[in-house]
Amino acid sequence: MRTHYCGQVTEACDGQDVEVCGWVHRRRDHGGVIFIDLRDREGLVQVVFAPGERDSFALAEKVRSEFVLRVAGRVRRRPEGTVNANLPTGQIEIAATRLEILNSARTPPFSIDDENFDVNEDNRLRYRYLDLRRPQMQARMRLRSRVASTVRRFLDDNGFMEIETPILTKSTPEGARDYLVPSRTHPGSFFALPQSPQLFKQLLMMAGMDRYYQVVRCFRDEDLRADRQPEFTQLDIETSFLSEEQIITLMEQMIRELFNEVLGVQLPNPMPRMTHAEAVRRFGIDRPDLRIPLELVDVGDLMQGVEFKVFSAPAIDPHGRVAALRVPQGGDRLSRKEIDDYTKFVSIYGAKGLAYIKVNDRAAGRDGLQSPILKFLPDAAIEGILQRTGAGNSDLIFFGADKAKIVNESLAALRIKIGHDLGLVKQGWQPLWVVDFPMFEWDEGNQRWASLHHPFTRPQVQDVSELVADPGNAKSYAYDLVLNGTELGGGSIRIHNAEMQAEVLKLLGINDDEAQQKFGFLLEALQYGCPPHGGLAFGLDRLVMLMSGATSIREVIAFPKTQTAACLLTAAPSEVDDKQLRELGIQLRKVAVVAKTGA
Ligand code: AMO
Ligand code: AMP
Repeated sequence: MRTHYCGQVTEACDGQDVEVCGWVHRRRDHGGVIFIDLRDREGLVQVVFAPGERDSFALAEKVRSEFVLRVAGRVRRRPEGTVNANLPTGQIEIAATRLEILNSARTPPFSIDDENFDVNEDNRLRYRYLDLRRPQMQARMRLRSRVASTVRRFLDDNGFMEIETPILTKSTPEGARDYLVPSRTHPGSFFALPQSPQLFKQLLMMAGMDRYYQVVRCFRDEDLRADRQPEFTQLDIETSFLSEEQIITLMEQMIRELFNEVLGVQLPNPMPRMTHAEAVRRFGIDRPDLRIPLELVDVGDLMQGVEFKVFSAPAIDPHGRVAALRVPQGGDRLSRKEIDDYTKFVSIYGAKGLAYIKVNDRAAGRDGLQSPILKFLPDAAIEGILQRTGAGNSDLIFFGADKAKIVNESLAALRIKIGHDLGLVKQGWQPLWVVDFPMFEWDEGNQRWASLHHPFTRPQVQDVSELVADPGNAKSYAYDLVLNGTELGGGSIRIHNAEMQAEVLKLLGINDDEAQQKFGFLLEALQYGCPPHGGLAFGLDRLVMLMSGATSIREVIAFPKTQTAACLLTAAPSEVDDKQLRELGIQLRKVAVVAKTGA
């Protein structure tokens, strides 16, 4: 139907007869001449209808926004003064000789234009097919496709096989709730949609596939945020007979090549690494954004003997932490009101306050400082704080004192917030491998150990007895790749020994019966010659989000769900017929029915 895409009709086509198809982006009547900007995937081209071309001119008068047209005409240079330097097609226009209206369109609920685009997200999602027509969204989908094809090529070139794994399967624990699918043929039984293909990819290593990958949909029923969707895509990878070092090296090479090919960006070689313990100590979090030059400094040892209980109590508590965060020039740049606002901000994370010291004159000692806690602190403690934080004139030091978890979470969030508020975030890309994650963390609510990564991660111990003796201090062969403060991907070396796997499940409070019922197939497979193996998974949506500069993964998913995990376009999820429920042997509980009718 066409000779060119609209966006490809450039100066090189001057004088040629062309045919293009596309959507009416804009129509302007200029006293007897009609201009139509015609848009397709590749861009915009200006089409001119002169009254002399009677038939096409008459049709062009009927055309409205988003009509679908086919136009034939001759390319010519635009008259002097009407050239648009911002468009690849801005030097030329098409003098139309024939117009065919392929389809009309209702007036769209919002205009398909990136300029001053300010449409609420629900409306965009309700009419996603229109939203996706915008050049910005087209560019994001194209980037996503390029990212996927580039990593596929890299993995194909490196001996990886793409293998599909089931979507109707058994629960794979990754820390979220499962999406369940009732079985008609086995009444009362359910499939779970995979939270990841974790167990299948391990089975593929046991099956001798050696190197596996998959661009795969994963499903997690969890609280949604800007970087979380209930269904999302992983670039999932597993290898046999490679060390952690070799896996990290290969994977960062892939990410470097990807950034270089797609964005022309050179990422560091090698990428920096940091242990989990160091990340938490210096940044309060396991995915530090290294673009922000602020760090936490421990001062607990200076506070153990002070009278100020707010500081001394957590300082002597083995689970407590007292940390300082110096904000250079913060004394000048932050008002009293802003400090109060930050105090409110950290309270979201459970912090009971946000003590601070303002340094007016470093040389004047105590007299040069301003702070509500000064009176509670002896000279030695104050001097220690100033030295350790490296505070100078006009700086401001914030303090967190509480259980370590609260201090870490609140100061980590504060560090990011102040970094953005004060414009301290450096330009560019800061990748970081975080390694040596602890094997377990203590789950206060349930009073038991929980996996930090997942239960199939290999602990850094010689044997089972070493792990059992001190699970809290065991590290694991788990690693995450962090980019600008976002966790892009994570993985680990896996347990390939049946006895160790059984023991880890036991430590997690999963008894033998439950282990057999949930993971019996894995425990059995481990006994039939399992190679040492390991891998990782990248969040493809997050990767594309960062590469495109978008602030939410919804912007890089064609048909995403809302914050309440619904699809506004198709109105899913929705009720089903009684007949379908009966076939599945399912009866809805009364509460659900009452809630729906509002009775
Ligand atoms: P993990 O749970 O860390 O590891 O997931 C890997 C990566 O997937 C992305 N991701 C998400 N993206 C969007 N929405 C979500 N709800 C979501 N959850 C996770 C993140 C994350 O880093 N089986 C292991 C991997 C392995 O050990 O090989 C796993 O799934 O970018
Ligand atoms: P108070 O004596 O409770 O009024 O607190 C004195 C100062 O310490 C105030 O600036 C509080 O914001 C701050 N503060 C109180 N509790 C904490 C805490 N857990 N961590 C950090 N600062 C705190």
